[in-house]
Amino acid sequence: MKSSTKQGVKILSTGSAVPHMSLNNNQISDIVETSDDWISTRTGIKERRLLTGEQKSIIDLAIVASRNALDKISMNPSEIDLILLATSTPNDLFGSASQIQYKIGAINAVAFDLTAACSGFVLGLVTASQFIQTGSYNNILVIGADVLSKWVDWSDRGTCILFGDAAGAVILQSCPYVDNSILNFQFNTDGTYASHLSIPYKESHQPHVLLNIYQGSFHPIYMNGREVYKFAVSQVPLSIVKCLNALNMSTDDINWLLLHQANERILNAVADKLSIDNHKIIANLSKYGNTSAASIPLALDEALEEKKISDNDIVVIAGFGAGLTWGTIVVRWKELQLA
Ligand code: UT7
Repeated sequence: MKSSTKQGVKILSTGSAVPHMSLNNNQISDIVETSDDWISTRTGIKERRLLTGEQKSIIDLAIVASRNALDKISMNPSEIDLILLATSTPNDLFGSASQIQYKIGAINAVAFDLTAACSGFVLGLVTASQFIQTGSYNNILVIGADVLSKWVDWSDRGTCILFGDAAGAVILQSCPYVDNSILNFQFNTDGTYASHLSIPYKESHQPHVLLNIYQGSFHPIYMNGREVYKFAVSQVPLSIVKCLNALNMSTDDINWLLLHQANERILNAVADKLSIDNHKIIANLSKYGNTSAASIPLALDEALEEKKISDNDIVVIAGFGAGLTWGTIVVRWKELQLA
């Protein structure tokens, strides 16, 4: 603990990475019984990027996204104090963050994984901001990355059409509290519905002959799409309103609505419920599909590249997904300090 006064948090830089290989809806219709029309109408997705090639993993994407964010502000990786990797698809159950720490040369950083599916990035951002606000760390790299293509059942048309692979990264830095960007957050979990969206671990039927220990393996993604859809459309607006109310703000104050990129119909339905104009929605899922923990930082990075977000804009960010876990962060955007 370095300081007893509460620090502010600013988002200093962003970066992202997507694989080269693109699979469009027509190509998916060669794999499962579906069509471009069905996928476009029901989800808004047109294509998604998939990580191909031997021994390619989430680490490869996360490194590119991280270097991208570091390069934009000419920051030396040794200045990073903490790396937080939000992912549900590590290439090691003990975690993948340390491999990123090693490969980008963040020699002074501690690194760990955080698992909260499609809400992983928002939870990671707030977790990181706590370390900054308490004065423990100055510079933190938060990565949201997932390669769900490795966990999809490519014969299940209810899920394989949705997901894509990507990584997004942000660098947070401490600042005077008056310049604080992360204004408030509101998070929720309801484990009652965990089985609606899961990559389940299943045990074998026979135990070890001597030890009575059951061992198993992870199975592909299972999703009850209709139930997850209803949950998102009903709960996400409530979380956003609670988060704004605590700041004495209203939905009229929102300049940009940045939701987890699961389904265009969900984005529109949430905006409609909150009477937010559709032109305030940040959306890029037509190109990338649902990239889980990567979707929000990827869309944020792209929106900034397109110069959509201006200084002092209020950006409401909301994640939702497996757990079921969901929540909102209200950000007052401060211009990036590009080198
Ligand atoms: O990131 C985590 C959060 N995840 C989400 O937010 C996902 C939320 N859910 C959804 O986005 C939607 O529920 C889906 C896009 C997954 C599905 O859309 P839906 O409008 O809820 O479709 P449905 O599951 O109710 O299925 C409607 C029909 C069914 O046929 P019947 O029973 O009406 O004859 C399905 O078998 O569409 C059929 N169907 C398909 N048809 C063509 C399901 N998937 C496909 C497909 N192509 N890919």
